Amino acid sequence: MTATFIKGTKIAEEVKREIAADVETLKARGIQPGLAVVLVGDDAASSAYVNMKARSCEQLGIYSRKLTIPSAVTTEQLLAEVRKLDEDEAIDGILVQLPLPKHVNKHAILEAVDPRKDVDGFHSANLGSLVLGHETLVACTPLGVMELLHRSNVKIEGANAVVLGRSDDVGKPQALLLMHANATVTICHSRTRNLAEITRRADIIVAAIGKTALVTRDWVKPGAVVIDVGTNKVSDRSEVRRLFGDDEARLKDFDKRGYIWVGDVDERSVQEVASMITPVPGGVGPMTIATLMKNTVKAARMRRGL
Ligand code: GUN
Repeated sequence: MTATFIKGTKIAEEVKREIAADVETLKARGIQPGLAVVLVGDDAASSAYVNMKARSCEQLGIYSRKLTIPSAVTTEQLLAEVRKLDEDEAIDGILVQLPLPKHVNKHAILEAVDPRKDVDGFHSANLGSLVLGHETLVACTPLGVMELLHRSNVKIEGANAVVLGRSDDVGKPQALLLMHANATVTICHSRTRNLAEITRRADIIVAAIGKTALVTRDWVKPGAVVIDVGTNKVSDRSEVRRLFGDDEARLKDFDKRGYIWVGDVDERSVQEVASMITPVPGGVGPMTIATLMKNTVKAARMRRGL
């Protein structure tokens, strides 16, 4: 079997077109959804992500504001910034880009975001609502994965789904969303024994464990759907060759930048057994941004009781 690629970029564009139409409807009523993105420090990857988010807002007619804060900021100072945004009427969504510097109390910052503006879905109130199955703001990456599955007509009900990774921002909410969609869910993590034995029983695998090309063909049941959330930086050319052989495009990309992004799935071998697979890049990533836009519009509506 040769897997079909789930084209995240194309599906994300489709979703963004729908959001743009929704924004137009709101604007006609005098409402412009607004997103504030808080970037602490000057990490190049975080800065690139934040700029992509701002560009998407612009594309869709969503007001956006970027706060760039020096990495020496204290927790108290950052809390004060977040509280200002909580009170700001022009802002419907607040996203504090992670990771934060180690000296900043991440938990305190995420809990300071007004849950109604928590477009990341990281606040304990929102995670709690997700556990209970109540309508709420849900983390963008796992919600985006669900949208990819739905729009690719993957049957979730009754499926055996395996989530690799138990992080608060992906693994845990992903497992809950799949469970609410009536999958039978297994969560695996770094201490799980016989990982491959468990993944081989899965109809759907969501890999979000942060290990380059961990999932290989012998981990995958023929016909399974494999979603790759991983984004691992590979800066060794021989590693690129080992993973992708003579793939000209990858090698060219590597030679241009000195690194490439590789998922948690060994795309080359898994492609031979899976029925569908998301590419990295161009799979889950673009969908995460589209979902952030969707959450911002949702927050704008919810805050006004619409
Ligand atoms: N850093 C990488 N991904 C994310 C995300 O989805 N939200 C936030 N806030 N930071 C991130």
